[in-house]
Amino acid sequence: MLKLIAPVLALYLWACSVTAPGLTASEVRLEAAAASDLQALNLTVRNPIAVNNQVIHGRFLHITDIHPDEFYRPGSSPDKMCHGGHGDAGRYGDAILGCDSPLELMNQTFEWINTHLKDKIDFIVWTGDNIRHDNDRNFPRTEMNIFDMNEHVSGSLYELFKNPDTSNPRNLVVDLIPSLGNNDVYPHNLFAPGPTLQTREMYKIWSHFIPQNQLHIFNRGAYFFREVVPGQLAVVSINTLYLFRSNPLVDNCDRRKDPGYKLFEWLGVVLKEMRARGMKVWLTGHVPPNEKNYDISCLRKYIIWSYEYRDVIIGGLYGHMNIDHFIPLDSRAAYRSLAGSGKVSVADWDGDESDDDDDDVDLVQQPPMRIAGGTPLNKVRYMDSVRSDVYGKIAKRRKSGPHGDRYTVAHVTASVIPTFNPGLRVWEYNTTGLASMLNNQPASANWDQFFAGVDRHMAYLDTVDDVDHTRGVSMFDYFSSRKDNTLPPKKPADIPVGPAYTPQTFTPLRYTQYYVDLASVNAGKKPFGYEHEYSTDDRTYHMESLLVENWLSLGRSLAAPVKNPVKAGDDPALAQLWDTFLAHSFVDSDYENLGYG
Ligand SMILES: *[C@@H]1O[C@H](CO)[C@@H](O)[C@H](O)[C@H]1NC(C)=O
Ligand SMILES: *[C@@H]1O[C@H](CO)[C@@H](O)[C@H](O)[C@H]1NC(C)=O
Ligand SMILES: *[C@@H]1O[C@H](CO)[C@@H](O)[C@H](O)[C@H]1NC(C)=O
Repeated sequence: MLKLIAPVLALYLWACSVTAPGLTASEVRLEAAAASDLQALNLTVRNPIAVNNQVIHGRFLHITDIHPDEFYRPGSSPDKMCHGGHGDAGRYGDAILGCDSPLELMNQTFEWINTHLKDKIDFIVWTGDNIRHDNDRNFPRTEMNIFDMNEHVSGSLYELFKNPDTSNPRNLVVDLIPSLGNNDVYPHNLFAPGPTLQTREMYKIWSHFIPQNQLHIFNRGAYFFREVVPGQLAVVSINTLYLFRSNPLVDNCDRRKDPGYKLFEWLGVVLKEMRARGMKVWLTGHVPPNEKNYDISCLRKYIIWSYEYRDVIIGGLYGHMNIDHFIPLDSRAAYRSLAGSGKVSVADWDGDESDDDDDDVDLVQQPPMRIAGGTPLNKVRYMDSVRSDVYGKIAKRRKSGPHGDRYTVAHVTASVIPTFNPGLRVWEYNTTGLASMLNNQPASANWDQFFAGVDRHMAYLDTVDDVDHTRGVSMFDYFSSRKDNTLPPKKPADIPVGPAYTPQTFTPLRYTQYYVDLASVNAGKKPFGYEHEYSTDDRTYHMESLLVENWLSLGRSLAAPVKNPVKAGDDPALAQLWDTFLAHSFVDSDYENLGYG
């Protein structure tokens, strides 16, 4: 017994050894030229902070779903996936026609980022699908093709962001945090628990982006995190294929042997360490959490962890769906679902349960949503269902918890692939107070020791999880395996909520969405480039900040006309708000007016 407990104790001990040297941070004056560049991009003019060799701007890029297709031919036919025949396939790709991205679209997108964003951002969240779809029998995808293209895309980004002034290849000018897409693997959607050939190859391909001390963890499941502001902020890359219902190699997140269960064991250890260090975290991945995409057992764990770590987690950043929108996730519904599943829960949702009314939602598994190549169909209907069944079910302010903390928000950004038009998003966050936080930061414990501890701990959990539970309850089971390690402890009441809920350092302040007007660019009316599509604080949305409460208010307004047709049904401002939001969902491609359903 003692032998089994020992590795758990070790987990608490590594924090005692302190090594990292102190940091020196100070605000840098922005030059006039840099300020006008920022204005031209509708970004906020703000002095960056220099810390040791790094400059922190308070901004990052989210890019997703590039889907470059090496067989794309301009002038070919969309009926042949733009691989052959004669047709209107444009030089940079065309919105809605259903083909993947020409290599030139990827190349010019990277050039644009290089020219306009590289010196203005702190890191890049890059949420996968860097391979063409498996949609043409005449051009089958092989495992080799997939590794090659992953390598090509990673290599191009590495060339753009490598730091010429250092011999350490992992020391990039701008950190990149990749995550695995369902088309980045062979065959698509299928991903087995690691270590496998695929996890080893992906580690090699992403070797410059993944900290070396996370090799073992990465080989288990292609997940890892990166500290993007030293001692303060990390980006966690989740392998969502283990949570994804379309992956036939995984069952759910409640069975101990399943990789989704292991993923939450790992996430639990990471989040606990982040809290102990006072760090904040963005969760990122390819497939966004909702009832169509995730197995219900995985979805509710995702939501419950986000809720109990609402002092640490800022939110979630995802791709995959190509449709620009946001998803509020209800912790109360997740706890109710957990209770209904007959799982022994460690505790129930601790918010206000009194005064029930009909805005309670149940988490129910919905038919999976298939995202494949080809012309997108029925997406207006999909957004109508988001409006009525997701935004329309957001609880009233009084019942959403202090600062809306009943909810966490997952953000789905527009893709580069022209399912609609290509899009990119730049987030801006609060850096007030950051310089002094960095200067006064206690030297933090060494990550190497943390990871050595994590490796030991995960190996120990494997021995526990591998016990055959069908043989009846033994002493061993009683002590070690009854408790579900993948349910979080309650958030201690004395820890205040984090940057997603009250204004503080790292609170997301606004984002700006950019898009390519492909029709005009292909017609030669405009040079290639990303232009401003909208910002969250512009005339349409007026969002002062991007706290969860701001998103809940927006969601309630978007749904008001369908929820209260008598009261809000013919308010022209609310109707206009929805129309504009829908136009943005489809990246200004006019999809909603073209009769695709
Ligand atoms: C974006 O920036 C441009 C250039 O500064 C400006 O003309 C435009 O009004 C801005 N748009 C919005 C919506 O703020
Ligand atoms: C774009 O393509 C050109 C020509 O092949 C190449 O020289 C350049 O490095 C590419 N740019 C990026 C960012 O990959
Ligand atoms: C930004 O952070 C500072 C320092 O924590 C805080 O006082 C301020 O209210 C925050 N502002 C916003 C808009 O988040």
